[in-house]
Amino acid sequence: MTTRRRLLAGAGIAGLGAAAGAGAVAALPDSSGSSGPSGRSGLSHPSGPSGPATPVAATTDLDTGTATVAFHGPRQAGVSEDPPAHAAFVAFTLAAGTDRRALGRMLRLLSDDAARLTRGEPALGDTDATLAGLPARLTVTFGFGPGLYRAAGLKSPVADLPAFKIDRLERRWSGGDLLLQICADDPLTVAHTQRMLIKDARPFAAIRWVQQGFRRSPGVQAPEHTQRNVLGQLDGTANPRGTAEIDPAVWNEDGSTTLVVRRIRAEIEKWDILAVSDKENAVGRRLESGAPLSGQQEHDEPNFTAVDASGLPSMPDFSHVTRAHVTDPTLKILRRPYNYDGMPDAAGHPDAGLIFASYQKDIARQYVPIQQRLADKDLLNEWITPIGSAVFAVPPGCTDGSWIGATLLA
Ligand code: HEM
Repeated sequence: MTTRRRLLAGAGIAGLGAAAGAGAVAALPDSSGSSGPSGRSGLSHPSGPSGPATPVAATTDLDTGTATVAFHGPRQAGVSEDPPAHAAFVAFTLAAGTDRRALGRMLRLLSDDAARLTRGEPALGDTDATLAGLPARLTVTFGFGPGLYRAAGLKSPVADLPAFKIDRLERRWSGGDLLLQICADDPLTVAHTQRMLIKDARPFAAIRWVQQGFRRSPGVQAPEHTQRNVLGQLDGTANPRGTAEIDPAVWNEDGSTTLVVRRIRAEIEKWDILAVSDKENAVGRRLESGAPLSGQQEHDEPNFTAVDASGLPSMPDFSHVTRAHVTDPTLKILRRPYNYDGMPDAAGHPDAGLIFASYQKDIARQYVPIQQRLADKDLLNEWITPIGSAVFAVPPGCTDGSWIGATLLA
């Protein structure tokens, strides 16, 4: 309980990082609980016991190489499906003079490429057709930034997010007129697709940024188990699941949705030195089992009025889950985050974090209020920093022979 008391009675949230740093050595034996399937024993849990580690390893052999996800349909692929293991988010700035007609030409071309490649066929003029044969659940999802609508002379359904006090945004990870979200269970498939699409976009648009991310590889753990992120947290537990939960939160009547992409750096070495109980209080869930601090099992509903043995709220009001929680099913967001892990600096300090991708019907109504609450007060902010931000409308899908954006631009 000392750790929890320190959190509550300490000099406030802002001083916590320093306090954690100072306590580094003392915390070390207690701080390595972010294990995967093996499940460590001997962790101390001052706020209460966690259940035993759930075995998560997959038991079946998979043949994912030839698996496909349909490109054509009323809604774009790459949103509702379980996220494949690898992703490249490619954002473009339109070239001056790329008007509505030019946009139509570009999107016809890119839609045709995406339709072929997702079927496991080479794109027209594919410079390495041998690489197209294993689509590995490839999806290509098109997002339109505010600048694309401006170029087309149309009113944009999305606007840049307001500035949040936690933001340390860098231009090299922010904005974009067009986004291609390329996902597949194989990094070579993603790389080939990215190269083909960029080549065909080149006459119309320049690269603004590319962010590559990863999740667990297929077959590594059973798909029904929530994956851990680079911070060792089970990430995705409270996400909407299945059409009954996803549809009311994500899909508009016309098959459109919206996407927020935030690059969020994790201050991983500061996080590493925390005691398990501090990590759990920051999130509001147990590290090992993912159970809310008010419950026993991962999927227990958090109880925000429960109190612990000392009379304190079981779910601290500054915890990430308490701040982010939404009950109205139409106000939830669908999180589809990928990990990134770039080159460490010369001293070996990591450059890692999340490419936090969130789908929702309406950014202003759903995403912004959650982000605002997190920016105002979320203990996790001590260990995460948003360094990139972009918003996109995701137009409806298209039928075979048509193209993404045709309903807007044709
Ligand atoms: C690096 C950044 C972040 C990390 C490491 C992180 C981590 C987590 C973890 C571990 C959980 C609990 C398990 C779960 O339900 O998935 C969670 C829940 C959640 N997070 Fe985050 N998160 C991050 C950023 C964000 C951002 C930017 C938003 C939205 C603005 C957000 C919204 C949510 C929501 C809505 C929940 C579910 C809350 C509930 O109803 O239980 N998170 N996050």
